[in-house]
Amino acid sequence: MGESITITDNRTGESVEIPIEYGGISSEPFKKLLPGVWFEDEAFTATAATRSAITDIDGDAGILRYRGYPIEQLAEHSTYLEVAYLLIFGELPTTEQLEQWTHDITYHTYIHENMRKRFLEGFHYDAHPMGMLVSSVAALSTFYENAKDIFDEEVRYKQITRLIAKMPTLAAAAYRFSVGMPFVYPDNSLSFSANFLSTMWKVAEPRYDANPALAKALDVLFILHADHEQNCGTTAMRVVGSSHADPYSATAAAAAALYGPRHGGANEAVIKMLTEIGSPDNVPAFVESVKQGKGRLQGFGHRVYKNYDPRAQIIKQTADEVFEVTGKNPLLDIALKLEEVALSDDYFISRKLYPNVDFYSGLIYQAMGFPTEMFTVLFAIPRTAGWLAHWQELIEQDQRIARPRQLYTGAGERPYVPISER
Ligand code: CMC
Repeated sequence: MGESITITDNRTGESVEIPIEYGGISSEPFKKLLPGVWFEDEAFTATAATRSAITDIDGDAGILRYRGYPIEQLAEHSTYLEVAYLLIFGELPTTEQLEQWTHDITYHTYIHENMRKRFLEGFHYDAHPMGMLVSSVAALSTFYENAKDIFDEEVRYKQITRLIAKMPTLAAAAYRFSVGMPFVYPDNSLSFSANFLSTMWKVAEPRYDANPALAKALDVLFILHADHEQNCGTTAMRVVGSSHADPYSATAAAAAALYGPRHGGANEAVIKMLTEIGSPDNVPAFVESVKQGKGRLQGFGHRVYKNYDPRAQIIKQTADEVFEVTGKNPLLDIALKLEEVALSDDYFISRKLYPNVDFYSGLIYQAMGFPTEMFTVLFAIPRTAGWLAHWQELIEQDQRIARPRQLYTGAGERPYVPISER
């Protein structure tokens, strides 16, 4: 045996040696030695829920790779659709494969008219677009009955293309509805990100041609957000997927997890925080209040990264390119000051708190004209590729249903008390 650990049950003196494989130890020998004794690992901080060959993160070194390719190289040379293919199928596509893939995505962007006319228009006028997206993705499952055939590879491929293709359409439909603008049908002559911008902003022109620099910047942001291994949303996708629910229902669960302010909702929270700070001069006082426990520095800190989030580094460059077109976001100076003050403060240094992906992305989205309510939606669109890659991997590995244990701390058996005696 190579590297291993030995666990001894001090009650019986029995031991078990467990090999360390891929940096982890299997729970199987442990369960045999100690039946009924469970690891207490709230929030799964030390639990590997699976073996996965999709995304590799070295949080201490600030490294992120999709299928072995560094995120910096993908952001510079690739496109979101190519990256989605890479995540799902494991290899970069050939020219023919990419053409077919792009065609299949492009020709699945339309949504059933009932989705738009009856379902989306049924929401209250001020419904949050992320709430609309979560529920409309779940509703899609009712349109594709055979989506339940999750072990049929062809059926799976169809749902994967539909989901990647329809997320931007649903997202833009939610936005248009919230501002009282008519729905815009997808334009198959445009690229993935340019088409999304068209469905968002088109008014009366026959064809909406987005500024190429902005379409490119959005595509880079989509690449950066496409996957991040076993985060909260992906875990939700896998847990629901492990019950063999259809992929629309599992994606709705993943999107619901992303909605929370500790996860994909943080970019919205960053803009609110920067607006409240109001001026670079107020930054030191704000940082002091965070240190005293009055709230968190939004867009800072990460469960895995104990270094600068590599995505934040790329987003910072992308921000400069976007601001050249849109003009500088006035909140940028506050953000830069905040980063400078926090990164030279022992509170943040000792806790290894660095800017994460959400710190600068909101500034770009805002400069491009997206309302803050759309920020998490802009995260969900590309993350769909990652969720589906993990879902496909889970199905192919034929994993068992996710079902953790608990350490029961409640009352022991006690007799029922009639209401008159309570
Ligand atoms: N501001 C101030 N203090 C913080 C922050 C922060 N943003 N994040 C962590 N800390 C402190 C925390 O108070 C704790 O201090 P102490 O040891 O004195 O109690 C220590 O750092 C460790 O924090 P934790 O809560 O144990 O860390 P976690 O791994 O459970 O939480 C996190 C990770 C991302 C939820 C958290 O850092 C946070 O709330 N950040 C702000 C929200 C945010 O930016 N979220 C986006 C994450 S990146 C995109 C995504 O994956 O969705």
